[in-house]
Amino acid sequence: MADKKRETFGSKLGLIMATAGSALGLGNIYRFPCEAGANGGAAFLIVYLAIALLIGTPLMVAEFIIGRRSKSNAVGAFKVLSGTGSAWPLLGYLGVLCAFLILAFYTTVAGWTLGYLGKAAAGHFSGQDLASIQQQFSSFTNHPWLPIVCQLAFLALTAVVVMRGVKDGIERWSKILMPMLLVIMVVLCVKSLTLSGAAEGLAFFFKPDFSKITGRVLISALGQSFFSLSIGMGALITYGSYISRKDNMVSSAVGVTLADTLVAVLAGVIIFPAAFSFGIQPEAGASLAFTTLPMVFQQMTGGYFFCLMFFLLLVIATLTSTISLLEVIVATLTEELHLSRTKAALVGAAGTAVIGVLATLSFRAGSPLHIGSSTVFDLLDHATALYLMPIGGLLIVLFLGWKMKRADVMDELTNGGTLRTGIRKAIYLIIRYLAPVAIAVIFVSQLVMR
Ligand code: PHE
Repeated sequence: MADKKRETFGSKLGLIMATAGSALGLGNIYRFPCEAGANGGAAFLIVYLAIALLIGTPLMVAEFIIGRRSKSNAVGAFKVLSGTGSAWPLLGYLGVLCAFLILAFYTTVAGWTLGYLGKAAAGHFSGQDLASIQQQFSSFTNHPWLPIVCQLAFLALTAVVVMRGVKDGIERWSKILMPMLLVIMVVLCVKSLTLSGAAEGLAFFFKPDFSKITGRVLISALGQSFFSLSIGMGALITYGSYISRKDNMVSSAVGVTLADTLVAVLAGVIIFPAAFSFGIQPEAGASLAFTTLPMVFQQMTGGYFFCLMFFLLLVIATLTSTISLLEVIVATLTEELHLSRTKAALVGAAGTAVIGVLATLSFRAGSPLHIGSSTVFDLLDHATALYLMPIGGLLIVLFLGWKMKRADVMDELTNGGTLRTGIRKAIYLIIRYLAPVAIAVIFVSQLVMR
């Protein structure tokens, strides 16, 4: 049943590009600098790097294995692999819920990128000073309908691509455009580093003060690395189910982790030196990327063109991430509830729109949409990155390490014994022992040492 007419990615590059497309997005360029800025800069960076490389890559491989072995969506995968009557499919539902909640607040910021693309095209940043660029951010996000229209347009765009299916829609986009984004970021980096006062920002980002590492920093770094790598919630189980038997999952996961980490670090190297140079607080939060970057462009020769290209590529990088989030929901609805792809995409997008609009509205100054002291937007962000993804990631490594048979896992890891085993055994050991302990310790540390 599971095998019938299932699509697969066309090539190994397709797998890497689609996964990189999912991983690279606002998590790198918007959320990473926000989190690093709020959590002590370099101290955060070090913990982040350690977690991304040591736990992120193995967890990514674990999700690929669950997907490829079961050839099924996030919920179906656990049904296929753990047999009837098991509670493991609940983990799949947790992933679908998480995808839905992330998509809701993610499209708030995705909408801003569309709005900023429009602003870049209209030349709104040219010749403006910091005060005006900060003012533009707050008037855009507080505008009565514009951010909502942008958010809904972004969701509609996502739904249209997902309706067209995995291969045509998802794979093609990622292949050409992700490398272009990297090129623009390198150009930006060079500019940022030559601004006066850049050194202070670099020190903030690279000179660690270990006394700043608290429980909150640990869980924030864990949450950010899971968020940025799209792990812990089933997106890569879903993409894993489209991998062909021949693909090398380990080298793909290593490649994607490195690319994703590189882009996040580049974003930091662009944003912190520039922020210090312009006198923007590194803790500025949501506005950090959206004020610093236009300021940098504005100081560059050809700034108008680069700014336009950057926001265009950012929209596309964001789109390849929202596609992977909606795909988690759509693959489950089509295979578990037998909806057509079109219907599933519409249902998923409409459901997201309801919560997503609340997140966008809650961002406004004076909005009553708070629960306790958090906006709906922050609540969704924290609930997913600090709770659902760590818990999901923990259960996924436990499933692979302790529920699945070692022989089956090694069979997947080595593509039926055709690939070298050395590093793959190490990955298996990390998945079985190190990853669950590390995730659990960090998760608990956050609860006890605030
Ligand atoms: N990894 C994406 C980013 O960094 C966000 C994302 C999270 C996408 C989870 C899919 C699943 O922007």
